[in-house]
Amino acid sequence: MFKPIEIVPDVFYVGVNDRQKSLFENIIPLPQGVSYNSYLIMDEQTALIDTVDLSLTPLFIEKLQAQLQGRELDYLIINHIEPDHSGAIAILRKYYPDVRIVGNRKTLEMLRGFYGINSALLEIKEEEVLVLGKHELCFYMAPMVHWPETMITYDRSSRILFSGDAFGCFATLDGAVLDSEMDIDKYWPEMIRYYANIIGKYAAPVQKALRKIKSLPFDYICSTHGPVWTCYKDEVFALYDRLSRYEGDPEGAVIVYGSMYGGTELMAEALEQGLSAKGIRKIIIHNVSKSDHSEILRDVFTYKALILGSPTYNNELHPELDALLRKIESRGLKNRIFACFGTYAWASAAVKRMTAFGEKMNWQLASAPVEQKYSLEKDNYEACLQLGEEVARMLQEG
Ligand code: FEO
Repeated sequence: MFKPIEIVPDVFYVGVNDRQKSLFENIIPLPQGVSYNSYLIMDEQTALIDTVDLSLTPLFIEKLQAQLQGRELDYLIINHIEPDHSGAIAILRKYYPDVRIVGNRKTLEMLRGFYGINSALLEIKEEEVLVLGKHELCFYMAPMVHWPETMITYDRSSRILFSGDAFGCFATLDGAVLDSEMDIDKYWPEMIRYYANIIGKYAAPVQKALRKIKSLPFDYICSTHGPVWTCYKDEVFALYDRLSRYEGDPEGAVIVYGSMYGGTELMAEALEQGLSAKGIRKIIIHNVSKSDHSEILRDVFTYKALILGSPTYNNELHPELDALLRKIESRGLKNRIFACFGTYAWASAAVKRMTAFGEKMNWQLASAPVEQKYSLEKDNYEACLQLGEEVARMLQEG
């Protein structure tokens, strides 16, 4: 009953939307859901590229059967074996027991480990080619984009890059699959949120993979999540390049603060005023106790300046801010302009810790943090304004 969604002749979308799951990897909120993309090539031999999450396997099998129309499935190519793309494999094999599973050495080791599958395997190596008929699939290893086994499959005849998680984003596909047939606005922030949270730690492997695929003449990017990119393929590629170089937008600043009783928050507002007075128009502010960390990371990856604020809490940082800093550190965020501010009531620690964090990250530090004992006083209000103005100048001077 499913009407085929054709991407190019012989290549079909057979993926599914997940509107049920609240947390991706049981960690990251999915307010707009997520798609698990799977693609079917119908040639002299048939090949499926990746599968879907276990929870949506019945629907996926129905779509696949509708498209295959009684034909056998000859190959399953695993670009990425994380269970959101491999959860359906064991059941798929019950429907298509003769399917040969194609992967690199690491993939097949993980296939055995996760699912106990040990037969009908075809191990491929870098740039090896699998001929289906007129479609010739060439395999390029892309380790750590996002797991060590990850690879990218290039279809030479239809000029498609089946890219695994690379270029993927959160949010479901609502009717259309191709970017040329939809309003894509909602996907840009979700692509950055996806990158910052899922792949952001692996900037060097992403750069290596981008260099590898740059020379391939591709017209389509078929990722495992989100739209198929064709009209915007160059923009998507450029965005990944920028993000993995840690290039922040110099027109914007992100203020992230923790505040128990509003004192540190007042300082954050003074900093906003200072930034605004000097012409910064993209000012993003997050109360770390309210904003989800995945959204904060999205913005921290997007903009060039980061300003942190915290009260001293049990002689430490505000605990939510502390947790966020560990996530930023683990992603090795580079090339940021940095400033900080904070409050305390009897012993001061937060500003020292934030300053040490900025130094450890090797960021460009504004001249002096602002620190307030008890409630905000006029001098420190002025100092916050000036700190905001200084960060604006640093952004403008590059
Ligand atoms: Fe969409 Fe790394 O799995």
